[in-house]
Amino acid sequence: MTAKAVTIAQQKGGAGKTTLAAQLAVTYARNGLRVGLLDIDPQGSLAAWFEVRKALVDENGGGITFVQASGWRLSTELERLRRDVDLVLIDSPPHAETEVRIAVRAADLILVPIQPSPMDLWATGPTLDMARKEKSPALMVFNRTPAKGKLVDAVRKKISESEVPVAESVLGNRVAFAASIMEGKGVVESNPRHTASREIKALAMEIAIKLGLN
Ligand SMILES: Nc1ncnc2c1ncn2[C@@H]1O[C@H](COP(=O)(O)OP(=O)(O)OP(=O)(O)O)[C@@H](O)[C@H]1O
Ligand SMILES: [Mg+2]
Repeated sequence: MTAKAVTIAQQKGGAGKTTLAAQLAVTYARNGLRVGLLDIDPQGSLAAWFEVRKALVDENGGGITFVQASGWRLSTELERLRRDVDLVLIDSPPHAETEVRIAVRAADLILVPIQPSPMDLWATGPTLDMARKEKSPALMVFNRTPAKGKLVDAVRKKISESEVPVAESVLGNRVAFAASIMEGKGVVESNPRHTASREIKALAMEIAIKLGLN
């Protein structure tokens, strides 16, 4: 059986794609899944995180297999990875290139992180259009959500008028997420009792249920 694949895509830069990829990867790995992380962003920030992880946490990646691929190698690398692990997470660059389209087409679910603001909501348009065209289901995820949530409710309501679902679980604006990345970790490793850990675990669970993983 080949593994399910989740592509994290959002054309708006800085929405939290790479953070989400690393945090989810660690959360699933800690739950005993063999996780494949595929980086198709030439910026390579996920690759940098993984290097730190190998140096400081576990030279074998701590349950995560990391692959960077682009161009004609992408499809073959993805298929190979899908045979070797239980779940593949794909981090993508903040623009719509052929590679992103391939990753969106191949995925079982597209995660679209957005900061709960009108600008970010409008900026999701091209990514959601791409998911629709490629017939891949999308799930929006609120990231860097402020503690007081009137705006979140308003944006959630606006989204509910479209047909794209929004994850129940939201990630707050928390230094713990960024701090764990600095150490090559996920927050469930660096700060297991922190609210940030509870948030990422809840999101991971919600996604797993959607994917039918158990
Ligand atoms: N929930 C969060 N709480 C606090 N900081 C966050 C959170 N999510 C992301 N960040 C910070 O926001 C910045 C952008 O995040 P990230 O690099 O994950 O976004 P991205 O979508 O991958 O960006 P790019 O489009 O450039 O690839 C980073 O500095 C990251 O540490
Ligand atoms: Mg990124």
